[in-house]
Amino acid sequence: GDNVLYLAHKHGIDLEGACEASLACSTCQVYVSVPHFDKLPEPDEREDDMLDMAPMLQENSRLGCQII
Ligand code: FES
Repeated sequence: GDNVLYLAHKHGIDLEGACEASLACSTCQVYVSVPHFDKLPEPDEREDDMLDMAPMLQENSRLGCQII
């Protein structure tokens, strides 16, 4: 689908996405600029759990494969 991970790959942006959107990694982590971040629906529990383990976590971190 057209999630941020998919779009990044489509446009040649180097974002890993090791688990291919199955919420088993955090390599698709992205930093979302604040105006956009605030408009996104809250991450579900599984995304939050993965984010908790993500390196370089920031307040505006999300998993790219979960942003539609
Ligand atoms: Fe693994 Fe997004 S690609 S959680």
